[in-house]
Amino acid sequence: MYVDIFGHDAAEESQARWKWQYDENPNCPEQGPEIWVAREGDRVLGQYATMPVRLKVLDRTLAGSWGMDVMVSPELQRKGIGSRLFLYWDKQVEASLGLGLSVSSYTLFKKLNWEDVGPVPCYSAVVDPGALLEKRLGRVASTFGAPLALVAQWLLLPRRRTRGGRSIEVRLKDPGSPLDESYDRLWERVAPRFDFITERNHTYLNWKFRRVPYVQYDIFEAVRAGELAGYVVLRHTERNGVRLGLIVDILADPDDKATFGKLLDRCFSWAKEHRVARLQTFTLDRRIGARLASKGFLRMRSPMQFCVRIHSDHVDEEFFRDTSRWHVSFGDSDQDRDV
Ligand SMILES: CC(C)(COP(=O)(O)OP(=O)(O)OC[C@H]1O[C@@H](n2cnc3c(N)ncnc32)[C@H](O)[C@@H]1OP(=O)(O)O)[C@@H](O)C(=O)NCCC(=O)NCCS
Repeated sequence: MYVDIFGHDAAEESQARWKWQYDENPNCPEQGPEIWVAREGDRVLGQYATMPVRLKVLDRTLAGSWGMDVMVSPELQRKGIGSRLFLYWDKQVEASLGLGLSVSSYTLFKKLNWEDVGPVPCYSAVVDPGALLEKRLGRVASTFGAPLALVAQWLLLPRRRTRGGRSIEVRLKDPGSPLDESYDRLWERVAPRFDFITERNHTYLNWKFRRVPYVQYDIFEAVRAGELAGYVVLRHTERNGVRLGLIVDILADPDDKATFGKLLDRCFSWAKEHRVARLQTFTLDRRIGARLASKGFLRMRSPMQFCVRIHSDHVDEEFFRDTSRWHVSFGDSDQDRDV
């Protein structure tokens, strides 16, 4: 069914991820992965494969769940089976979350009255204008155009200097060493600064960014007076013939301009070392958006739809109208899934 609906390559990639993504999730319940299956007798009609996470919503931590691979057998679609899967999954959890949706699932989330709080803003910064121009205009035009583009970028999107960054050291985390309890202390400190964020303790982060089998991330740590003040998770990939640097996750106190500044400065030097043409990241958090803008990131049209439902008496309708302190990133759910 997966091959029929998503294609052969996507099915193979899903197999390569499966054990890690479902079985090894530290929030996976003892009875096994949370994959909800619609059956008629022995016949499988569809599934909703989900990722349980601990979700901090205002001052409470809820049993949250990212909905990921949902499908109904093609000849049975539009008969109400998908709706029953969505609603059944939603009943088992305190928060059901859909990110980066296809047209059919986005339409269904809206039809079933999930809160539509997306799209999650996308931010992009040019690192190498020559490489981008070469892709669009060819080599000759880019040779002449690149210096002009550099000047224009410098004038229009200046990268502000990081103030107060002297006391902060940014270093690459040894890829062989796991993330430690300093990440839990960072989480405890910064969690109250957000209204909505997936819990990022060291167990979750090691699973998400260290034990993932199909990709290697570079993690940079910002350290101030011996204590972890923030981190950033990066990787590069190729999209439409252009080398793209993905800021998959970034975390610090959103008002700690110096730490964000130092981390983002390091993203740019990392991008140059890896011949990346453009850096890209996602977040709903407006304070982090401002940190990105100060380093020359521009907000782009975003394809990342986001629908949410929360079952808790501590949030009301107003909660969903102001998402400026919600940190949802490309590292959430299974957005970064290209094997
Ligand atoms: C999403 C999916 C699971 C829904 O299952 P389903 O059994 O068809 O859903 P239901 O019959 O309960 O609900 C149908 C509603 O879903 C939405 N929908 C389903 N297919 C759609 C399509 N091709 N385009 C737009 N909306 C669609 C509509 O709101 C539709 O209501 P309508 O028939 O009144 O217009 C199914 O369409 C599917 O397998 N899609 C392909 C895989 C996919 O895109 N997965 C999501 C990955 S993020």
